[in-house]
Amino acid sequence: MCKQEYPADQIRHLCTCGGPLLVRYDLAAIRALWDRSQLRDAPNNMWRYAPVLPPAKESVVTLGEGMTPLLAARRLGARLGAKDVWIKDEGLNPTGSFKARGLACAVSMAKELGVRKMAIPSAGNAASALAAYAAAAGIEAHIFMPQDVPQANYIECKAFGAQVTLVDGLISDCAKLVAAGAEKYGWYDVSTLKEPYRIEGKKTMGYEVAEQFNWRLPDAIFYPTGGGVGLIAMWKAFDEMQALGWVGSERPKMIAVQVEGCQPVVRAFERGETRSQFWENASTVAAGLRVPKPLGDFLVLDAVRASGGTALAVSDDELLDAGIQLAREEGIFAAPEGAACIAALEKLLAAGFLKPEERIVIYNTGAGLKYLEAYATRFPRPRSGEQDKLGGLITPR
Ligand SMILES: Cc1ncc(COP(=O)(O)O)c(C=O)c1O
Ligand SMILES: [Zn+2]
Repeated sequence: MCKQEYPADQIRHLCTCGGPLLVRYDLAAIRALWDRSQLRDAPNNMWRYAPVLPPAKESVVTLGEGMTPLLAARRLGARLGAKDVWIKDEGLNPTGSFKARGLACAVSMAKELGVRKMAIPSAGNAASALAAYAAAAGIEAHIFMPQDVPQANYIECKAFGAQVTLVDGLISDCAKLVAAGAEKYGWYDVSTLKEPYRIEGKKTMGYEVAEQFNWRLPDAIFYPTGGGVGLIAMWKAFDEMQALGWVGSERPKMIAVQVEGCQPVVRAFERGETRSQFWENASTVAAGLRVPKPLGDFLVLDAVRASGGTALAVSDDELLDAGIQLAREEGIFAAPEGAACIAALEKLLAAGFLKPEERIVIYNTGAGLKYLEAYATRFPRPRSGEQDKLGGLITPR
């Protein structure tokens, strides 16, 4: 916010002005040495973009994150009257969400900087990803999540050997506990935007969509916005790619999707404000979107406005319907956050905000399998006795 610069070889959190730090590269120097044709021989994961990622090669901790499939959603498109709809399926990442990208990068940098203990407040998926990469790096992980976090996230973190604290509150309450612990025990706090490296990992979602479309950016991108880091990160990636000469000045309309039970960014967008206000009593089955006051709200709002995009919210009922419909039409079982984008797509097509010929990409940020509690509300299971009578279960007698 104040444009102050810091050297990259030191542990840093926020700027002294309170703003987040962004990583800057000497893109002119990189451009002279690295051409996109070299990607042919690069690894088939997000580290194919290593020259624009912070860690040195020796520091990289990887579980194979990135280079997720970009799938044509023809049946979905045909039903909604759109001819060119695609789904970037981030559910195929390690630990089942795009959070793997950010935390692979942050843990790699923590390793490079000699960090031994990391801590995170999380709605769930970031915790699972930190737990996995910390385990892979041999670093201690301290995790704070809301008590009602999806079961999958809790079990994953425990299985990966993290120290888990369940908090009677929201992610904002968890963040306060992490900040206190960081002070007291010297934990490296990897809260959203409180360190500069998660965003660097997440930006590879932007590089990949460009590469997978042969360097033509789509017309619109739907992104489920909690902290909004993925959206900010892709926006940064487009600027970097332009500086590298890989794409032109055209940009997709960035569409921030939230939920009715927690929509601080949508509210600020509609009111023409540059910052959001704390959303009271945030509640939704899309756990990753339950962020009452995103730290990077001003960056999200900037990108959405500069791109000619928009911000809108859908209800939990709409997103569960959309998720199940998507599964049936396309064979993709999306996280509720990704499903929210399908519901939002339907609204924006109906409203004429998007045209049938436009190339549209939906980010499904996670796997539906991680949200069995949410989807189970639509598929209550008969008790085994009843199933038995229906012949659905073969049991020894
Ligand atoms: C599946 C999923 N989608 C989206 C989000 C929101 O991410 P961002 O901080 O990039 O807005 C989260 C965050 O927890 C998530 O787990
Ligand atoms: Zn500053």
